Formats: sequence, C-alpha cells, structure tokens
Amino acid sequence: MAGYLVEDARKVTTHRLIEMKQQGKKIAMLTAYDYTMARIIDGAGVDIILVGDSASNVMAGNFTTLPITVDQMIYHAKSVVRAVKRALVVCDMPFGSYQVCATEGVTNAIRIMKESHCDALKLEGGEEIIETVKKILAAGIPVCGHLGLTPQSINKFGTYAVRAKEEAEAEKLIRDAHLLEEAGCFAIVLEKIPAKLTERVSRELTIPIIGIGAGPTDGQVLVGQDMLGLNDGFKPKFLRHYANLAETITDAVGQYVSDVKNGDFPNENECY
Ligand code: KIV
Repeated sequence: MAGYLVEDARKVTTHRLIEMKQQGKKIAMLTAYDYTMARIIDGAGVDIILVGDSASNVMAGNFTTLPITVDQMIYHAKSVVRAVKRALVVCDMPFGSYQVCATEGVTNAIRIMKESHCDALKLEGGEEIIETVKKILAAGIPVCGHLGLTPQSINKFGTYAVRAKEEAEAEKLIRDAHLLEEAGCFAIVLEKIPAKLTERVSRELTIPIIGIGAGPTDGQVLVGQDMLGLNDGFKPKFLRHYANLAETITDAVGQYVSDVKNGDFPNENECY
C-alpha cells in the first residue's frame, strides 16, 4: 500500500532521519505493539514506529510503564518488525533493564536487538545513564534518548504534569540533551515540556528532536491507540484525535451481536 505524502519508499535509517532534520523535513512517529497495527501504520507512511513500553498501559492495562519486562518488549517488537517494510523500528528498553549498571544495560540491549530484530533502542534519562548509553552505542546499537516527562520515573515525579518549567530543571534538560548528542544518539524524544524549551533544544542540536506534548519541533510522536480514539477518556491537551475507533468498533460489534442474536448472521451467501 502506498503511504500518504511518502516521497521516498526506501527503508528509513537513522542517517536519513538526521538528513531530514537538515532538510527541514518533519518526522512522523507513532507507537505500535502488534503485527496488525504496525502493518497498517507502516503502509500509511510513518517514518518511525516506536514499540513503546506504553504497551504496559495500552496492551496490558497496567497503571504505569514499570511492570513490562524485557521478554514482553521482545515479544511486542518481534511482532512489529515482522510487519514493517519502511519505517525505522525503535524499541523501548523497559524499566530496570538498564538502570543498574552499564554492563547489564548493554547485555539487555544486545539481547533485545538479537531477538527482536528491531533497528534501534530508546532509553529514558540523561547524565545518570550516559555511560550505559555510550556502551550501547559502542556495541553498534543506535540509541534514541528520551527526556522531560520520562514515565519510568513517574513515582519520583509523583505527577504527570509538565516538566522543566523551572529554570534548574530546564538547564539540566538542555545539558542532558547535549550529552546524549555528544555520546552519539541519533534522536531525542522530549515529552511534556514547554514549547519554548523544545525550540531551544532543537535549535542547539543537530540530531532530530521528536516531541510529545512538547510543541512544534523536528518531529512528533503519539501513542497510536490514543490518536485513533481507542483510549476512551484519555484527552490530554497535547493529544489530537484523528479517528474515533472506539465508537466505530462499538457500533460494529453491537451490529454483529444483534445480527447473531436475530439469526441474520450468517446468511446463505456466508455458508459452505
Ligand atoms: O512508550 C511510549 O509510548 C513512549 C512515547 C510516549 C514517546 O515512550
């Protein structure tokens, strides 16, 4: 299936994403966790598919991203990779898989790459994990950073409110972004921070900045299920709904239930 507005059907690489920033071309990124959804959104032309640890919330119904394991992330990433022809597939390293030490981080990173066949990994944090990021990069694995409202630290933050509104936190975020770029990361996700701060980080860095609730920048990421209107009741300010699939599915399933109960399904053309 041809994607919308896709000028280049070649597989997206980290190198291409950096070129896109240089050429002022915006990067579209969405999450997916399974084969069926990944196949559709890849065909529709997204540049990056993120196998986010938000699978913990979206697929498993957990309250936070913390419970998801390396094995579960590998399962989701493998399913996505099987479906994708064009997009770069980035897999989140889950909570606990890289925070203990660099050696454990790189061991888990290699395992996720080997078993899932994804293209790159995403880790949350800056200075605190920089040695781990460097080791993973030294192993030949592309890394995307993630700063701002990093959901794996939700228990430390105690709130999902906008981060880095105060100068000290904003200055630390800028320092962290530079450290990640200098280490060799190919992109950084900035989540839920003031648009002015995002604008400054994007201006100072040569690698692409992908925002979520962070204002206009080099690219945007949303959780697929959220933007498709599958997640009833979740309506933060930054989220734009592009469909109301919850309503579409409810109507379709309601119709099916009624057809089965009335004996209208199957009809004579639907029998062997
Ligand atoms: O796991 C996820 O979905 C993410 C995005 C919110 C960026 O990390």
